[in-house]
Amino acid sequence: MAELGVNIDHVATVRQARRTYEPDPVWAAALAELGGADGITIHLREDRRHIQDRDLRLLRETVTVKLNLELACDPGVLAIACQTKPDQATLVPEKREEVTTEGGLDAVGNREAVASAVNKLHDAGISVSLFLDPDAAQIDAAAEMGVAAVELHTGQYALAKGAGQANELETLRRAGRKIRDLGMTLHAGHGLNYQNVQPVDRIPDMHELNIGHSIVSRAVMVGMERAVREMKALLSD
Ligand code: PXP
Repeated sequence: MAELGVNIDHVATVRQARRTYEPDPVWAAALAELGGADGITIHLREDRRHIQDRDLRLLRETVTVKLNLELACDPGVLAIACQTKPDQATLVPEKREEVTTEGGLDAVGNREAVASAVNKLHDAGISVSLFLDPDAAQIDAAAEMGVAAVELHTGQYALAKGAGQANELETLRRAGRKIRDLGMTLHAGHGLNYQNVQPVDRIPDMHELNIGHSIVSRAVMVGMERAVREMKALLSD
């Protein structure tokens, strides 16, 4: 069974819609833990559109499970990460105009910048994961940089239908095998929901799934604790 990292960015999105104090992602994290979350994931974006520096600070103090910070290779955010010391940092690409993270990090095309960010995080004692498309060259680059884990981008799988989805799943399986063969830990995320998560959970040695939008959407209807418990039940099924 994979561990469940609950991404609570969109709790902060609702708060920032009114620039107020509620709903508080710190409360959401506590309720997610009560529902069985194995980790809490947040993305401190350069434009601070949802998670704020204050959230990261308080979550670092209050989260008792793994705290996974997603960030771009941006010097300002990297400095905050190195100071705050989350349990894990996941490097992701970031564009100001995107609605959500679009595709994996280009660790091949931006090798120097990514390697430099990885080294800074390692120097601060933080375990690093790279968010990558299921692409052999990208996975080789991650192994060369010495990261502990690769999070496979499941966005294409989540968007595909029928035979197309089976093909995307096979691509993820093949990439997963390569990640494990190179000695890294296998994570996955993006676009996963209550309907499509189980085949990804069953990929051999899947260690961590990061799921946000779908859990927060369900939480709006039934509460965070129940929404997380329902997702956990699917993973342990
Ligand atoms: N993993 C990474 C690296 C992400 O950037 C995101 C989105 O913030 C997620 C997982 C969660 O994606 P979703 O909100 O679609 O579940």
